[in-house]
Amino acid sequence: MPDMLTITRPDDWHLHLRDGEPMRSVVGATARVFARAVLMPNLDPPVTTVAAAAAYRDRVVASLPSKSTFTPLLTLYLTDDTSPAEIECARAAGFIIGIKYYPAGATTNSASGVTDLSRVYPALAAMEKCGLPLLVHGEVTDPDVDVFDRERVCVERVLARIVHDFPALKLVVEHITTREAAQFVAAAPAHVGATITPQHLLWSRNALFAGGLRPHAYCLPVLKRETHRQALVDAATGGNAKYFLGTDSAPHARHAKESACGCAGCFSAPLAIELYAQVFDAAGKLDRLEGFASFHGADFYGLPRNAGTITLKRESWTVPASYPFGAETVVPLFAGKALSWRVAD
Ligand code: DOR
Ligand code: ZN
Repeated sequence: MPDMLTITRPDDWHLHLRDGEPMRSVVGATARVFARAVLMPNLDPPVTTVAAAAAYRDRVVASLPSKSTFTPLLTLYLTDDTSPAEIECARAAGFIIGIKYYPAGATTNSASGVTDLSRVYPALAAMEKCGLPLLVHGEVTDPDVDVFDRERVCVERVLARIVHDFPALKLVVEHITTREAAQFVAAAPAHVGATITPQHLLWSRNALFAGGLRPHAYCLPVLKRETHRQALVDAATGGNAKYFLGTDSAPHARHAKESACGCAGCFSAPLAIELYAQVFDAAGKLDRLEGFASFHGADFYGLPRNAGTITLKRESWTVPASYPFGAETVVPLFAGKALSWRVAD
């Protein structure tokens, strides 16, 4: 078993940085390890225009540690009213990598999301035409659908329809959590990919109830059964270029998680690459970490692979109990627990 692993510097293809002081607190954790990250647009108010995305990018860049070369890649938040003209403008802007589809009501700040797939057909047609990818939160919000089935039903009712009706549209199924979603992506054309988070690779839904209710393990889509986790590990470590790293690191202040109605989201940025290393190590596939973390996403989006490297060492360290988050604190995944890999400085 190797004790050191040097890989091309990775990218995070799905990240929530928030805004203002909280954003300034957490951006350094991502910029330390990742060269680029795809920033989610579910701010309040959501990033629905190219002008808003440009302003957000500028705020993020202004918050970076000095000498950081981290590059934020922006997304626009798709609404029922997003016009084909805004899509073309996003494409022309250059710094917008895709358009994010939140089903209305599915998750944090999704109230302005899409109420019905048919309403965004003009926008999807414009994206297909100009080559701008669609990034989908793959869950239905129908109250009749069990929360653990929301992704599977989305695959059947929504994603299959998108792929059928827009055969050339580049599509990323974000943070997949089920065998059905992994199989859907594997069977789809090469321009359909998926991101996978560390928590969905490490934990089944049992982790939500281990000895009591665990709010810091709660995210959306919610953790699934062990059989699904195993299917995700097989997908991530199998060498298939359709699957790539997207942490979905989604910080919320501690009190918003430890609450009678706790927010969805796991904060993983300060330990994300270490968690992925643990998953690939446990699967005996450390040699495939670089493809998943550093090559597949860049290749999918048609961007150059990064030039630098990072080195991971097999070394035990304890994850801090919390990190600053503006005037508050945020509790990371594995708070107070020991990890077996660490990025060397
Ligand atoms: O757990 C989640 N948190 N899932 C999402 O889709 C959104 C995210 C957030 O923004 O907090
Ligand atoms: Zn997300």
